[in-house]
Amino acid sequence: MTICYLNGEYMPLSQAALPLTDLGVLRGYGVFDYLRTYHGVPFRLDDHIRRFRSSADQIGLHIKESNELLADIVATVLARQELQQTHSNTNTSSNDDVEEASSTTNNSNTTPQEWAIRIIATGGQSDNNFLPTPGRNTLAVMVEPMIIVDDTPHQTGVRIITTRSDRERPTVKSTNYITAIMAMQEAVQSGAVEALHVDVHGMVSEGTRTNIFFVLPSSRDNSNNVIVTAPDDILLQGVTRKVMIELIEQDDHLTLSVRPISLDEVMSGATEAFLTSSTKEILPVIAIDGHPIGNGQIGPVTERCHQLFREYAWRSTTAIATAANAANPGNTSTSSRSATRTPGVE
Ligand SMILES: Cc1ncc(COP(=O)(O)O)c(C=O)c1O
Repeated sequence: MTICYLNGEYMPLSQAALPLTDLGVLRGYGVFDYLRTYHGVPFRLDDHIRRFRSSADQIGLHIKESNELLADIVATVLARQELQQTHSNTNTSSNDDVEEASSTTNNSNTTPQEWAIRIIATGGQSDNNFLPTPGRNTLAVMVEPMIIVDDTPHQTGVRIITTRSDRERPTVKSTNYITAIMAMQEAVQSGAVEALHVDVHGMVSEGTRTNIFFVLPSSRDNSNNVIVTAPDDILLQGVTRKVMIELIEQDDHLTLSVRPISLDEVMSGATEAFLTSSTKEILPVIAIDGHPIGNGQIGPVTERCHQLFREYAWRSTTAIATAANAANPGNTSTSSRSATRTPGVE
């Protein structure tokens, strides 16, 4: 059973429902954020909550719940989900079905369960079915097991295509993914895993659900490589991108440039490219529109970036998980150890 939070209550996901007159349904007026856990600890939760509120602010959607309450709700949903999971595992093992259960989920006794978390806000019900009525926003938090994806794409690299579609508000994580879904339909038809947005001037921004970095020769010194990503104001500022930028800036051997990039420049000069997102982490790109990037193989800069990211993700969450475990030694659930009571929503 999957637990969720909806407008002040915790309930099984199967029982959660919105009125058809919710502005999210009627007008597609809503925002969301999506993050994952490492060691059961939400990764960079503060950044995701900040982006969630920024998305809402940019479309004039007032979210009445404070950032502290949002964090508390996330922790509570996770804690309840883990408790529920522990109960269902106990029941499963007492039925002698444990082998079957652990072969179909990633929740064996040795592999900790990881979760994907979605925080969603919509305009809620409005007095005139159009303009949002202050204080009536819908708020939902859902968790689902992180699907353990086959790691092959990270070992082999992936192919992507470009798409000439314009996005209405690229800096907002809107619930409206029409453009993205249409672009991904094109990508899937051509055997690609992502579509890269390129504007009418031929400038690259990001993928449908990923940001992108390129390794390009430095304009000052052709022998030096620079890792380039497009400017903040033309894309969704991914939290993985943000972490990667921090890690590159801290590394003595890597150089970063955040600047406009044209598709021509990429096709003629990029030696490596990689996508970033919460689910894909750092995913090497070996070809764009059938054109190989560099020698068409995963490059050393991409490998280094992935290593830096994985080490950081594990290190930063291990510290939190260890502190939580020390504070609550008898508890089997990492997130419930860090969860506190949620004021006003029980
Ligand atoms: C348009 C877009 N860009 C980038 C990303 C990557 O963001 P993050 O790294 O926070 O997962 C996403 C995530 O879904 C996205 O939808």
